[in-house]
Amino acid sequence: MNTNSSFPNTRLRRLRYNPVVRKMVNETSVTVDDLIMPLFVCPGENVANPIKSMPGNFQYSVDNIVKECKEIWGLGVKSVLFFGIPEHKDDDGSVACEHNGIVQRALRAVKKEVPGLCLVADVCNCEYTVHGHCGPIVDGDVENDQTLVILAKQAVSLAEAGADIIAPSDMMDGRIGAIRKALDENGYYKIPIMSYAAKYASGFYGPFRDAAESAPKFGDRATYQMNPANSDEAMREVMLDIQEGADIVMVKPALSYLDIIYRVKNEFKMPVAAYNVSGEFSMVKAAAANGWIDEKRLIMEIMTSIKRAGADIIITYHAKEVAAILNSRK
Ligand code: PBG
Repeated sequence: MNTNSSFPNTRLRRLRYNPVVRKMVNETSVTVDDLIMPLFVCPGENVANPIKSMPGNFQYSVDNIVKECKEIWGLGVKSVLFFGIPEHKDDDGSVACEHNGIVQRALRAVKKEVPGLCLVADVCNCEYTVHGHCGPIVDGDVENDQTLVILAKQAVSLAEAGADIIAPSDMMDGRIGAIRKALDENGYYKIPIMSYAAKYASGFYGPFRDAAESAPKFGDRATYQMNPANSDEAMREVMLDIQEGADIVMVKPALSYLDIIYRVKNEFKMPVAAYNVSGEFSMVKAAAANGWIDEKRLIMEIMTSIKRAGADIIITYHAKEVAAILNSRK
């Protein structure tokens, strides 16, 4: 960095007077290609249950998910991330592996009707277990290695149903290796893994757990998700996932963890995704509903900050709104 030039030779405002010049020196852009829209699919027909804590988001039945995906595609958003609310739950999450599971059905239907859309499937058991934890419970805690077996099965089943990307969000040790191996053994060597590599035990997931009906019935997720105070540990998590075969690494949540996004991008030079999670979304909605902020402006500032930190991909419930804002600027 040149530190010699100083005022009055240097006037940084010179590049700010003319709006065209301002755009010429713009460093960070957000485009529709960066976005992934999360969706919740539930049983039934013609169901659209509003998720109270996440205004504008719904639990959709498969027929309505197809409609929603057509709309999303029409806006220019090219990827969605599926979460399932199953008919019934069990002790270990095996229902998530059923050939006709809720997400499997959604994947097949959307693949057929909106073939260009890139379908990301979340792999985790917490939506499918009666206790709301991410795997079978042994001695009061999630049993790591038994969970791996179910996750690998779930991933293969989702790939078989048409998932274009597999996204494991459970935070068990060794899951990327187990899933990669299972995918490859079943012929899915072309399917990338986007791992929730640095996923923190965060209060920002609250609204999601209403949406996905996946709140733990006892305890919390502190024995598997990361301590929000740790940054070096995130580098170890990301490193291991890359070694085990992750193609894209994710940091989650995004806004309180921009430093982690920055570090991951700089240390590993891998494609990085950031999850702008439910609580981050709902705070914006609540402030906007009260008239306290300029919502569109805030949304774009948030997206820009996540990209500026180093993310290539943003998973966000604002995806449709961002696309609409970008389209209106054309
Ligand atoms: C499942 C999962 C969670 C989220 C994504 N996948 C919740 C959790 O870990 O409890 C949160 C997403 C959000 O808050 O938007 N393990």
